[in-house]
Amino acid sequence: MSERPRIAVVGSFNTDLLVRTPRMPLRGETILGGGYQTGPGGKGANQAVAAARLNADVTMVVSLGADDLGNRAEQNLVHEGIHPDYILRTDVTHTGVAFIIVDDGGENMIVVAPGANEVLSPEDVEAAREMIAASQVLLVQLEVPLETVACALRIAHEAGVRTLLNPAPGQTLSPDLLQLVDVLTPNETEAQIISGHAITGLTEAEAAARSLLDVGVGCVVVTLGGNGALIVSADGTRHIPGRHVEVVDTTGAGDAFSGALAVAIAEGRSIVDAVTFANAAAALQVTKVGTAPAMPYRPEVEAFLERGPTQSHSRARG
Ligand code: RIB
Repeated sequence: MSERPRIAVVGSFNTDLLVRTPRMPLRGETILGGGYQTGPGGKGANQAVAAARLNADVTMVVSLGADDLGNRAEQNLVHEGIHPDYILRTDVTHTGVAFIIVDDGGENMIVVAPGANEVLSPEDVEAAREMIAASQVLLVQLEVPLETVACALRIAHEAGVRTLLNPAPGQTLSPDLLQLVDVLTPNETEAQIISGHAITGLTEAEAAARSLLDVGVGCVVVTLGGNGALIVSADGTRHIPGRHVEVVDTTGAGDAFSGALAVAIAEGRSIVDAVTFANAAAALQVTKVGTAPAMPYRPEVEAFLERGPTQSHSRARG
């Protein structure tokens, strides 16, 4: 595809307030942290930025507060090349905020105050119907109301647009909603919540994913952190190992993965190629601090992929 692939994102924006600590505090404990930084985040916006930096033509349907954080958010999204037509502002509540703690191992804990994300409505999505229908891929997450996500998925499904749901934060989902999803990208915890199957390794992850295929999901890609990702579809199961990198901060790695996967799928690449590309984007993202600002650009991902092939192990079905 010579044109830039068009991706519609319906999702959240949060201003991230991030503090580094040597370790996570215990319940009721106060500890002194280290470096502090604030920046643009939110799973929807992170994935939109990831896709835009990887050369997609991205339009985002998003709700921001009519406050200073909202002003800065809008400027940032526009600066990243995201079309502003559906950047909505509300004065009923504040711009979303996320409180993030990252320890020395690069692991994180996050609490989100959703604010304006909670008022993104199905009507807002209906107003973007034509834009969604003219996209190659719709990319959604679960930081905005479920009825809004369902509305976006329905519009895309009716228009024959490929749908990618990153089911984060994890919650149980109805079969009706799952049947609208072409590609689902849970991590192991989310796969466990959605499927109801306990996951302790690759075998259980595959069983959980297969139960979601039985409900009607097109393809499940379980992300495994540093271990890469497991593709489970009607064609079989394939593990694409992760790339070894120096981990600084894992926050937003799943967003880098889903944003990159959406781009590669919109470009018409095979699911194996798309997951290999997404693994590379996520690996590069964890080498930097922060969420959206740490998303890699296309030339970086391509150079990284050229530096070393990823081995893969496949298992035929049956
Ligand atoms: O996935 C990381 C994101 O989760 C952060 O940017 C934070 O805003 C929360 O939404």
